Amino acid sequence: MNSTINQMINRGSIRKFSTKHVENETLETILKATVQSPSYANTQAYSIIVVEDEKKRELLYNMTTGTSGKGMTFIQKAPIFLLFVMDFNKVNKVMKKENLDMHIHESMEALLVGAVDVGILLEATTVAAEALGLGSVVVGAVRRDTKSIIEAFNLPKYTYPICGLALGYPDTGIKITPRLPLDATVYHDSYDDNAFDKHIEVYNKYMEELYNSRGADTSWTKLMASYFQKPIGKEQIDTYKNQGFDI
Ligand SMILES: Cc1cc2nc3c(=O)[nH]c(=O)nc-3n(C[C@H](O)[C@H](O)[C@H](O)COP(=O)(O)O)c2cc1C
Repeated sequence: MNSTINQMINRGSIRKFSTKHVENETLETILKATVQSPSYANTQAYSIIVVEDEKKRELLYNMTTGTSGKGMTFIQKAPIFLLFVMDFNKVNKVMKKENLDMHIHESMEALLVGAVDVGILLEATTVAAEALGLGSVVVGAVRRDTKSIIEAFNLPKYTYPICGLALGYPDTGIKITPRLPLDATVYHDSYDDNAFDKHIEVYNKYMEELYNSRGADTSWTKLMASYFQKPIGKEQIDTYKNQGFDI
């Protein structure tokens, strides 16, 4: 099998990293590959912040502790931690240079364009890092306190933090978490509203056994339901508006 495809099919998030140093050149190669990703009209409406300062790592970690008091330790321990930011500040500078006013921030389109561009970058970083033997995990939990992130990282108006990404050489083997079968996800010519229903029971049973074997008493549907039973991120609307976005 082609090595890129093999790597992608056999990937899994890594949450425990060895202390092995990641060379600057390695990170630079990963980031060069990352920014060659497609972006909306080549806008490149993003920035990536390499978080080296221990206090800032601690701030990000503290956002993930919740009520249990135990947070995502890999935020502090990973050799590399990147913060991915949606960035229309740069677009605004371009508009000023051209003596025109920016309007994209006045609509949902900004969130769609920016979040898609950052999402593509995240995957590219992951694939590039894995090609060089590193492991990674995306960290959306940093969005639990976007206000503090904006302050701590001096994020200007028209920018918004989207996700973190921890990177380093893995200290554990990869655990592959299987996805729904392609038939439940890929349709031909029109949306198939029965496809998911056909597969959900078998997938759920399989995942329940997998989660049990990993020490978690849950199933996929239970896990999803626990995440989506309440509105998420409503408090972010004000922060989003304060950053100059108007939805
Ligand atoms: C947008 C996004 C946010 C995520 N946030 C977190 C996070 O905060 N903490 C974490 O441990 N994993 C996080 N993950 C990783 C997912 O939990 C993981 O990709 C998923 O469970 C599938 O497992 P796999 O990557 O090992 O295949 C995130 C992934 C994505 C794409």
